Amino acid sequence: MSQPALATPPRTLLIIGASRGIGYALAAEFLTRGWHVVGTVRGTANTPLHDLAAKHKDRVQIESLDITQPDEIEALSGRLAGRRFEMLFVNAGIANQNQDDTIAEVATDDFVRVMITNALSPMRVIEGLQSLVPASGLIGIMSSGQGSVSNNEKGGHEVYRGSKAALNMYMRSYAARHAGDPRSLVLMAPGWIQTALGGPGAPFSLEEAVPHIVSTLLAQQGKPGLRYIDREGKTVPW
Ligand SMILES: NC(=O)c1ccc[n+]([C@@H]2O[C@H](COP(=O)([O-])OP(=O)(O)OC[C@H]3O[C@@H](n4cnc5c(N)ncnc54)[C@H](OP(=O)(O)O)[C@@H]3O)[C@@H](O)[C@H]2O)c1
Repeated sequence: MSQPALATPPRTLLIIGASRGIGYALAAEFLTRGWHVVGTVRGTANTPLHDLAAKHKDRVQIESLDITQPDEIEALSGRLAGRRFEMLFVNAGIANQNQDDTIAEVATDDFVRVMITNALSPMRVIEGLQSLVPASGLIGIMSSGQGSVSNNEKGGHEVYRGSKAALNMYMRSYAARHAGDPRSLVLMAPGWIQTALGGPGAPFSLEEAVPHIVSTLLAQQGKPGLRYIDREGKTVPW
């Protein structure tokens, strides 16, 4: 008599910054593809992720994290100890108040806020939570095409560009320090998308872009090493 096939255990995504925008849409799309999701929000306000969790109580869990607060990263790591996440994806990010400010014009505190949020804090999250990802898993961060030094021929968005270029550099350093790590490492350039950050003039809606981001992330599983790629999986020049 043949043995019944063993059921595959559900795979779980830990997504940091999933209250709204691309992060929320990623959580919803992974859910559609059969994954379980642990998503983080900050503050106590109701968010689209809370509505998603209310509809899928058994598959969506909400955790709290402000990525700029190291003690909150440590506390989250403690709460999730013993769990296993096939994918850890840090999505949280911001732009400076006036995106047209040049580096000569930006207020120092606005520059510091963007660099801490977009470059330093995602790396602290990766360092603090990476042990929850198994050898077969993927660790990803939301970068941007604007983080490419090579492609910066038009300028603009100088502070934001610099923060994502710095993030890319820190992730390259992380990858160099973890040479031989079997896990996939991804810096994702999702394209210009209609969100609060991207604005209404962006060429792509969340519905158009996010399924491609998810398919590309899934396709990177099992490929060790760091890739800086767009949502179609095409390499972005550093
Ligand atoms: N939209 C685009 O065209 C585009 C293009 C390239 C890259 N990106 C990147 O994609 C990511 C998501 O952007 P989006 O367009 O979806 O922007 P968004 O709609 O403004 O959403 C930003 C998300 O990041 C979270 N966040 C911000 N600061 C945080 C912090 N200190 N701690 C925890 N969470 C924090 C926000 O949470 P709250 O709700 O609590 O504020 C929200 O969930 C960002 O990294 C962005 O740089 C976006």
